[in-house]
Amino acid sequence: MTTILERYEQLHAASERLHQRALPLFPDGVTHDIRLFTPFPLYVERAQGAHKWDVDGNDIVDLVMGHGALLLGHNHPQVREAVAQQLGRGTHYGASQELEIEWAERVQRLIPSAELVRFTSSGTEATMMAIRLARAFTGRDTLVRFANHFHGWNDNVVGAPDREGVHPHALGLPDGTLANVVVIPQNDPDVLRQTLQEEEVAAVILEPTGAGWGTIPLDPAMLPLLRETTQEAGALLIFDEVVTGFRVAPGGVQAASGVTPDLTTLAKILAGGLPGGAVVGRREVLSIIELKDSGKMDFARRVPHQGTFNANPLSAAAGNAALDLVATGEPQRDATTLNQTLVRRLNEAIRDAGIAGCAYGHASMFHLILGAECPPPVDDFTWNWQNQPSHRVPVMSGNVSLALRRGMINEGVDLMDTGGMVSAAHTEEDAERTIAALRRTIAQMKEEEIL
Ligand SMILES: Cc1ncc(COP(=O)(O)O)c(C=O)c1O
Repeated sequence: MTTILERYEQLHAASERLHQRALPLFPDGVTHDIRLFTPFPLYVERAQGAHKWDVDGNDIVDLVMGHGALLLGHNHPQVREAVAQQLGRGTHYGASQELEIEWAERVQRLIPSAELVRFTSSGTEATMMAIRLARAFTGRDTLVRFANHFHGWNDNVVGAPDREGVHPHALGLPDGTLANVVVIPQNDPDVLRQTLQEEEVAAVILEPTGAGWGTIPLDPAMLPLLRETTQEAGALLIFDEVVTGFRVAPGGVQAASGVTPDLTTLAKILAGGLPGGAVVGRREVLSIIELKDSGKMDFARRVPHQGTFNANPLSAAAGNAALDLVATGEPQRDATTLNQTLVRRLNEAIRDAGIAGCAYGHASMFHLILGAECPPPVDDFTWNWQNQPSHRVPVMSGNVSLALRRGMINEGVDLMDTGGMVSAAHTEEDAERTIAALRRTIAQMKEEEIL
């Protein structure tokens, strides 16, 4: 019997050679933590629509989709054309440009909280700026965030021990930073209320569909509660919509839920697959960036903000083209409809295999758990998240999740960790391939006694 690992190595010899070249160059041979993969990651040569082709010539249904940036699929003709046109006009003016105004106008039309907009180069920069603005505006230091919620890699969000010691302490962080960050479980209204009463909180930041792009779903009842309790406490509410913005609905979770945060962070789909981010929100908060009439970098009265590639012309061109398509609501509808079918059929495959586990989703995102009992699903798509504090969720063993991802790649499907981002470019055929791939991967995992 050829094992999943042996088959992975056989199918991806050219990727392995590139990995050997990369090892002396990069820590772990990669440029992003989640691209690290054992025994070596895939090296991709080109991509189109919902597919990508690796350097060994394998045709892969892509469910990573630019880490969620590509709601429209790879190389959407309108986005590509907009970027090509802009390339002919130059890539950096070191000056203001009409494209950035058009981009911000589109953001403002779509995102309810966006009274003012400030572009950054990434989601990490957007969350860093949102937190700094909240502290400057409130004159308070404490940031509250939810365990396992991901907000990029700036100091305030990369790990601080929670009260129950579940969340790990990240290396390289000054104690002072950690002292000003409180991490609490996501679905616990009492802990939230108590924290907001006991601490002088500047802001609460969260991923509004739950930790890790909804891997651990947030109880939707938490959103209005967060709005009400932060307002009462004089704290700002920050929705990190880097993933959910433009995906869950054209106006993000805030439009879908009717809960408007004070500040919102955006990236990924915002820039149509090119680098870019933004912090948007209440005029009085963002205007702390303004130099006003002083004309000086007056650090005592304002929050400074620079960034060589902020609103760069290529990202602005791609973002404008992408947001025009996003504004119609069609890409979200298509991707969500296909995802709902996909998740139901993945659940069928899991049930047919007679193993513990489930698939669940939110809009066009889905997650898989294999080899661990799930709480009862509400409707085969939505997981019953009630009374599931963030650290009490079924956890897939590392062994299982590694074999799952590897097995799926062998079958021509690249998952984003143990889930996926469905785009408007995915077809029913891609969904069929994904379901068949899961069935075969589970069978092989059973044969190898991994499940
Ligand atoms: C919710 C969330 N916030 C922030 C970030 C950081 O964005 P970036 O990778 O553009 O720095 C990410 C990245 O995946 C994210 O998922």
